[in-house]
This record gives sequence, C-alpha cells and structure tokens, in this order.
Amino acid sequence: MALGRFRVGGVCGRAARAIRHDVLSRGPSTDLEVEGLALRRARAADACAIQHVLSTDPATWELLEGTSLLPDAAAHLLRERPPGVPPERKHVYVADDVCVIDLVTGFPDEPTWYLGLLFLAPAARGQGLGTRVLDAIAAHVRAHQGHALRLAVVVENVRARRLYERCGFALVGRRARETARGVQQVDVLELAIALRS
Ligand SMILES: CC(C)(COP(=O)(O)OP(=O)(O)OC[C@H]1O[C@@H](n2cnc3c(N)ncnc32)[C@H](O)[C@@H]1OP(=O)(O)O)[C@@H](O)C(=O)NCCC(=O)NCCS
Repeated sequence: MALGRFRVGGVCGRAARAIRHDVLSRGPSTDLEVEGLALRRARAADACAIQHVLSTDPATWELLEGTSLLPDAAAHLLRERPPGVPPERKHVYVADDVCVIDLVTGFPDEPTWYLGLLFLAPAARGQGLGTRVLDAIAAHVRAHQGHALRLAVVVENVRARRLYERCGFALVGRRARETARGVQQVDVLELAIALRS
C-alpha cells in the first residue's frame, strides 16, 4: 500500500497524491498495542529499523509498490501523508525485525482511519500475528471513536486479501493506483470495515 498508498480514487472519485517533506508528528503516542509485539511509535530516527523490516522481503515490497525497494523507502514512508492531513494524524509504528504499520486518522473522511501499510517480516508470518495486529488496530480505532478502517490491497496480493476477508473487510471499489514514485500503476482493491460499536 506509498504514494498512491493514500490515494483514494476510482469509485469514490477522490484523487489524492502528495508527499509532505516536513517532519513527522511530534504529537503524543497513540499507544497502539499488540500483545507480544514490542511496537513503538516510529520517529525519523527509526528509518533504519523500518528499512530493515522492509528489506526482509523486497519482492513483496515490489508487488505492493510497483517498484523495487529503494534505499530511502523508509524515510519516504515516514514522510508521506495524504493531502490535507496534518502530521499529528499520521502514525508509523515499528517492531524491530518484525513489523511496520502506517496508520492515518481522519482519512478519507473524519470518522475513518486508513491503514497505509501493514508489513510483517516473512519469519513472523503464518502464525496469526497479522490477524492479531489487525484486531488490535480495529480495537484502537474503536477506542478513539473511529467508525471505520479502510485500506487498499494489491489485487495479486492473495495472502493479504485472505487476511482482510477473514477479518470482515468488504470491497469498496477497485482502481489503478499510481505507485510511490509515480513509476507505474498497480491495481488495488479498496476495502473497509465498519467499526461502530
Ligand atoms: C499479509 C500479512 C500482514 C499477513 O500476516 P500473517 O501474520 O501472515 O497473517 P496470519 O498469520 O494472521 O494469517 C495468515 C495465514 O496463517 C494462518 N494462521 C493463523 N494462525 C496460525 C498459526 N498459529 N499457525 C499456522 N498458521 C496460522 C491463517 O489461518 C492464515 O491462513 P490463510 O492465509 O490460508 O487464510 C503478512 O503476510 C505480510 O506482512 N505480508 C507482506 C506485506 C503485505 O502484503 N501486507 C499487506 C499489504 S495490503
């Protein structure tokens, strides 16, 4: 899911592409917690830790982004925000060697949160961690009065699609998404789950 990662278009008709080069939010921690995972809110200094997780599976990164893993992919991820979304609404989390999460609040509309990226290192997959992370994110969104969680998944990413389907996400639409560096387009499905309690 980088530029284009936050592009919501196609069926909902809203194209949004922007990279902000200002620093990450200095807002308070939003304390996303996943049992058994040493997750921390990422700062600019965590770019290396993020890059390391992404580099555990460059082939999948290429599938998601439509381009090879560039040396500054993590720095780019840390900076990237949808247009109009202030820094305090962008939250990147990292667990060393295991996991990277990119979450935006209030996008594409106020009560919706957007999962820009969920990336587990291959060694951490297939053990239920992805499911637990998604459950924790959903609980976190609910706890912060969010009404829905939305994301885009690459059509060919069968494993991730199975996960989202199993967790109750529904299809919102399908679109071609421009990749982070605007090199190519990848076909993505927009999925969402309602979280109103
Ligand atoms: C997609 C992704 C997040 C899924 O995470 P995961 O930890 O592998 O997911 P889970 O372990 O919860 O579920 C995966 C499979 O393992 C199975 N599983 C769950 N718990 C298990 C356990 N304890 N033992 C064995 N298998 C288990 C699940 O049933 C599931 O099977 P299925 O794919 O046939 O439905 C992970 O593969 C990933 O990060 N991929 C690369 C990046 C990516 O594609 N991100 C999504 C972008 S939209």
